[in-house]
Amino acid sequence: MQKLVIEGENRIGGEIHIQGAKNSALPLLAACALADGEIVLHNCPRLSDVYAACRILTCLGCRCSNRGNTVEVNARSISGYCVPDELMREMRSSIVFLGAILGRLGECSLSFPGGCELGPRPIDMHIAALRQMGVSIKEEHGVLRCTCPKGLKGAKISLSFPSVGATENIMLAACLAKGDTVIYNAAREPEIADLGNFLNCCGARISGHGSSTIYITGVRGLHGCEYRVMPDRIAVCTLMSAAAITGGEITLTDARARDVDAVIPVFEQMGCTVFAYEDRIFLSAKRPLKAVRTIRTMPYPGFPTDAQAIVMAALTKAHGTSVIVENIFENRYRHVDELVRMGADVKAEGKVAVVEGVGRLYGANVIATDLRGGAALVIAALAAEGETNLSNVKLIDRGYEEIEKQLSSVGAKIKRESV
Ligand code: UD1
Repeated sequence: MQKLVIEGENRIGGEIHIQGAKNSALPLLAACALADGEIVLHNCPRLSDVYAACRILTCLGCRCSNRGNTVEVNARSISGYCVPDELMREMRSSIVFLGAILGRLGECSLSFPGGCELGPRPIDMHIAALRQMGVSIKEEHGVLRCTCPKGLKGAKISLSFPSVGATENIMLAACLAKGDTVIYNAAREPEIADLGNFLNCCGARISGHGSSTIYITGVRGLHGCEYRVMPDRIAVCTLMSAAAITGGEITLTDARARDVDAVIPVFEQMGCTVFAYEDRIFLSAKRPLKAVRTIRTMPYPGFPTDAQAIVMAALTKAHGTSVIVENIFENRYRHVDELVRMGADVKAEGKVAVVEGVGRLYGANVIATDLRGGAALVIAALAAEGETNLSNVKLIDRGYEEIEKQLSSVGAKIKRESV
């Protein structure tokens, strides 16, 4: 067990290179299962979830090796179609392997992903879409057994909600399916565009990815390629929040400003100065933070649910009352009780959280409740008086490459200790 020990009230200042995106790297790794050749993925973040995806690929019979931020996968010899229960449990987003394995092998068995720290994560849209594509799906003893008796076929699929996971699964299944697939009301997240670009590099025929209608024409096979994972837009939000709450100044390199278009105005309303360029962002927080107008989490291009806890942390010290409405997940305010332990004044009920800015936060013993909620506690601790001991760091390690090293390099006093 490890904890982070954070000595607060140190201003963040300097430059940080943004890591590759976890939420893109994972579907890209699943997509590797589709290709009959060597794939080299650069800028892959060194994260426990990435290693879990590599273990799934190895377990399916693929060759997979990591060297720093480069992962090489060769799925030529893929043979297995079952993802073991313990690997499914390790990483909820492993459901995205379903479309890839089905696409390549025509069958797949994996355990049903149950609830997670964000509340229930249903997959009804994934299942309905795959059924439209000719997949027969049976659920037996918590295991989904999927087969395609007549092969995968293209279909016109209309999603009732632009689900990121369902859009990814359909794209993966459709690449090698017979005929054309159209996804209406598709998710438009930048990670979807990255997946489409990657698959096209491997020989897929996809267009419209990044918009709400995606067209996929099935091809006979995919080949290997070399690809660079996009930058992590949630890491960008995290570091902007860290600089804002400490009255600091930060330059983020390899950060695509257009991916955080919905978040930058929120920092500007707080009183920060932000200069956004194509591949870098500068934020300076010289004035005390101010409360902001209501933030509503929405599918992209709206305000991202993954940035909700992170921005809330900065708002705990912003003068005035801010309101947040969480529209994507039911159970995404678990960090609130921990922030309150640090002196924050936040009340959450149902979808709504009301944040009254306070003058001071205090260091405390707190527990990370989920990945982004854990990052929110780190941000609050950076501005709190005294020492914060933050346990359950493994949840934070799922999404941030050595968060203590990144933050130390820009002036934070933060270290990792074994307990
Ligand atoms: C979601 C986020 C994504 C984020 C990721 C990790 C959105 C739209 N998606 O993606 O940006 O990076 O979490 O935190 O913000 N749903 C169903 N049935 C389904 C699939 C989804 O009811 O078959 C519901 C979910 O319960 C949830 C919503 O749709 O309320 C969003 O789901 P989805 O986009 O699929 O979630 P993720 O792919 O996990």
